Amino acid sequence: MGKPFRACFIGLTGIVSAPVSTGLGGGRSVQPYSHASAVDRIPNAVDLVAICDLVPALIDAFKERWGSRWPNLNVYSDFREMITTEKPDILLVATPDDKHAFIVEAAADMGVPAILCEKPLATTLADADKMIAAIERNGTLLTVEHTRRWDPFFHRVRELIDAGVIGEVKTIVTTLAGPRAMLFRNGTHAIDLQNYYAGGSPTQVWANLEDGFDGFTEYRGDGGHDPASEPGASGYVRYDNGVRALYNGTKGSLSDFEIDVLGSAGRIRISGTTAELHTVDGTTGETVQRSFPATMIMTGGIQGAWEELASTLAAGGTNADLRSNAYQARKTVQVLTGFLKSHDEGSRLIAL
Ligand SMILES: NC(=O)c1ccc[n+]([C@@H]2O[C@H](COP(=O)([O-])OP(=O)(O)OC[C@H]3O[C@@H](n4cnc5c(N)ncnc54)[C@H](O)[C@@H]3O)[C@@H](O)[C@H]2O)c1
Repeated sequence: MGKPFRACFIGLTGIVSAPVSTGLGGGRSVQPYSHASAVDRIPNAVDLVAICDLVPALIDAFKERWGSRWPNLNVYSDFREMITTEKPDILLVATPDDKHAFIVEAAADMGVPAILCEKPLATTLADADKMIAAIERNGTLLTVEHTRRWDPFFHRVRELIDAGVIGEVKTIVTTLAGPRAMLFRNGTHAIDLQNYYAGGSPTQVWANLEDGFDGFTEYRGDGGHDPASEPGASGYVRYDNGVRALYNGTKGSLSDFEIDVLGSAGRIRISGTTAELHTVDGTTGETVQRSFPATMIMTGGIQGAWEELASTLAAGGTNADLRSNAYQARKTVQVLTGFLKSHDEGSRLIAL
């Protein structure tokens, strides 16, 4: 193996800088949780050389926490200056949801070969398309950090579907609940996973937003910190392979997350804490239900994202080799923005 790739981070809030947590909260605690703690674990593949944020206190806090691990870190407030000076192989973009596009576009045009962008790809289709045009004209790798695609627990469902264990996927019901169930903020994760399990591309949607969000026709999340800034939504997605899916997101309840995938020969229900496989016993014809996976070595999805991007870059691979490439992530932006358009038009079924 050659020298580790040079990485730079833009945006230094908790998702980037948090330490590996040792406590177990409710349900599974997937570690490493943050980008710094993920890169910390793969020193042969990636080395962090510089960080950037507009807020000096976040730079100081990052250095305080991670300075002994990366003592020679260079720090910047101007991401263009960082890219010009540091010439990173991999750039992490972890700025607010609506401030990914211009940075990814600029970085691709400045010749950064691989970019890991936090989710969602963008908050408008126009931004998503500008980003895709930029990576296409520059040959840039772009991964969007829809964490569960690499989380072995959630990825196992995709493997079971691919192995034909539940037959052909027919319908999906997705539930996202709790204060963070805002459409863009965490709805992104749920809708992306729904897309991942559906397998096709969304073609039609209808949706209805929670009360008080009439006139919410475009992202106003403002960083997505305040649950009041974004609606919960209930909606329907039809895919080009015939899969029909219902999404239900509410901020007004306990926190929960579940996806129920019904296939022609079985069913899978997965949440943050449990996973059930329902199949028909070949001998008795009875429906049997069992938990899965039986055993599994867990590595956090963020580490998986970094490992995949670094190995694809090392192998001279393309965006088609990335599990959460911009073309996949664009489908999630299509559903998010399609939901807003449908609600605005009286919750009618609209073509995407
Ligand atoms: N994958 C996950 O599970 C997960 C979890 C949390 C957050 N996120 C995503 O991470 C991103 C960051 O979210 P957040 O709420 O933690 O942070 P945030 O929205 O508060 O902003 C992140 C940081 O970006 C910095 N920033 C903004 N513009 C900048 C610029 N031009 N140059 C340098 N720095 C700049 C800000 O100063 C801020 O410190 C969002 O896209 C969010 O959706 C993902």
